[in-house]
Amino acid sequence: MKKNIIYWIGIENPQHTDKYGGFEYFEYSKNTWKHFCKKYECEFVEFNVPVKDDLIEYRVNWQKILYVFDELERKGINYDQIALVDSTCMVKWDCPNFFELTEGKFVGWRDLDNMRWIKESIDGYSELFNYELDGTKYINSGFIIFNNLHRKLINDFKKFYESNKTALIDLQDNKIKKGNEQTPLNYWLQKNNVDVKIDLPLPFKLTHLNRKELFSYNWQLKEDNTPFFIKYGWNWIFNGIPKDQRTQLMKNVWDMVKHNYIQKSNDILDTVNHKDTSKNSTSRKFKQNIIDYFGDKDINLTVEFGCCHGDTTKILGSISKQVIASDIADSNIELSKVKCKGCDNIKLDVKDVNSVWEYETPDVIYMDALHDYDGMYKCITRIKQQYPSSIVIMDDYGHEMNTIKPIIDNLISNNEIEVLQWIGEDAGYATANGKSFIDKEGLIFKFKEII
Ligand SMILES: C[S@@+](CC[C@H](N)C(=O)[O-])C[C@H]1O[C@@H](n2cnc3c(N)ncnc32)[C@H](O)[C@@H]1O
Repeated sequence: MKKNIIYWIGIENPQHTDKYGGFEYFEYSKNTWKHFCKKYECEFVEFNVPVKDDLIEYRVNWQKILYVFDELERKGINYDQIALVDSTCMVKWDCPNFFELTEGKFVGWRDLDNMRWIKESIDGYSELFNYELDGTKYINSGFIIFNNLHRKLINDFKKFYESNKTALIDLQDNKIKKGNEQTPLNYWLQKNNVDVKIDLPLPFKLTHLNRKELFSYNWQLKEDNTPFFIKYGWNWIFNGIPKDQRTQLMKNVWDMVKHNYIQKSNDILDTVNHKDTSKNSTSRKFKQNIIDYFGDKDINLTVEFGCCHGDTTKILGSISKQVIASDIADSNIELSKVKCKGCDNIKLDVKDVNSVWEYETPDVIYMDALHDYDGMYKCITRIKQQYPSSIVIMDDYGHEMNTIKPIIDNLISNNEIEVLQWIGEDAGYATANGKSFIDKEGLIFKFKEII
C-alpha cells in the first residue's frame, strides 16, 4: 500500500561534531516525527547514511534531494507523497495532517527570514542558470512536500548537478557562500515551471524562532507561560540560533513537551493486570515507570523471559518496535496471546530460560523467569556474557523472598552495573497474596564497560 512518507534527514558528519555541539538533537526531532507518522499512518524513513561518502563534493543538503527517489526505491518503499524534513524540525503533537492540504502539488514555504542573504544568493546563482528568478516565490528547502509527479524533475536536477558540479561547488564554497542546494533548487523549480504551492499556513514552518521572539510568552497577562512557538506553531525549526546550542535547546523543548507524544499510558495500563490483583505480575507503577523511562527512546528489540500472563509484555510492546516474550508454561503463553491480541509486534513462545538464547542483541532484556538465587545468578551472568550492552529490567528486587536483592546489591557494590532507575512500588507495599516488599520493587540497569 502506498503511504505518505516523512523522509527525515539526519546524517552525522563527524567533521562537524564540534560546530553542531554534537548530534543528539536528532533524537528529539525524530521522536516528534515518529509520533506524527503513527498518528497519520505515514511511514518514517531516515536518510542517515549518505549515498556518496564525499560530503564535500556531495553535501548532505544536496544528497537529500538528489537521491530521495533512488533511496526510496532502493529500500523498496511504496510512496505516495513525500515530506522532506530536516533534523532541525520538531513537529507539534497536534499538527494537522499537511499531506491532506497539498492538492497533489509541490509544496514549500516562503523564506523571508534574511532577505539580504536570499538576495545575494539569488544574484550569485543567476548567471549559472541564466534565468531571472521571481524572489516572491523563493522557498526554503528545509521542509518541502512533493510526490511521484516530481520524480523526473528531481532526477533531472541530479543530472544537472553532475554536469555542473564544479561550478556549483565553487559558487557554494568560494564565491557566494549562501547555502547549498536551496537557491539552485528554487531556480530549478521556476525554470521548469513547477506549480509550487506556497500558501499553506506559516505555523507549518516556523523558522528563526528567536528573531521573531517566539521563544517568549505573554508576560503581561500573567496567565500562561507557554512560549508562543508552542502555542501557535505546528512545526518548529531550530535555525537562526548558534548551531552549538541546538542540542541543548531542543532537549529543553523536548523535556517540556514530551508527555504529549508518549502514548497515553493510562489507556494501555487499564487493559492489563497489576500486582494488587495478580501476584505474579508487576505493579501499575512498575509498568508506568517503564513507559516513562523508555517512552522517548528508540527501542528496536525487547526480550522478556518469564512473561507469565503477558501483563508487562503488553506494556513492553508499547515502548519497543518488537518484543519476543517467552515462558516455560504453555498455558501462560496461551493466556499471553489473548492478553496481547492485536499487538502485532509481540511474538510469544514457549521456552525454558535455561535453553540457548538465539536473539540478535536486544536493546532491552526483561529477566523475570527464575527467582531462586542460583537460577537468577546464572541468568544475569549469561546476560553479562552474551549481551553486555543490553539494558536490563529486573522485577522482585524488593520481594521478601530476598533472592534478587543480594545478587543486585553485590553487582552494585562491585561496581559492575549502573542503576539507571529504581522502578515500581516502595518497601511496605502489600501484594495480592499478602506479601510485603522489603525494598524497591525493581530496577533498570546496565553493565558497566570493563576498561
Ligand atoms: C513472576 S512470573 C513473571 C511475571 C511477568 N514477567 C510479568 O511481569 O507480569 C515468572 C514466570 O516465569 C516462568 N518461569 C519459571 N521458570 C521458567 C523457566 N525455566 N523458563 C522460562 N520461564 C519460567 C513462570 O512460568 C512464570 O510465568
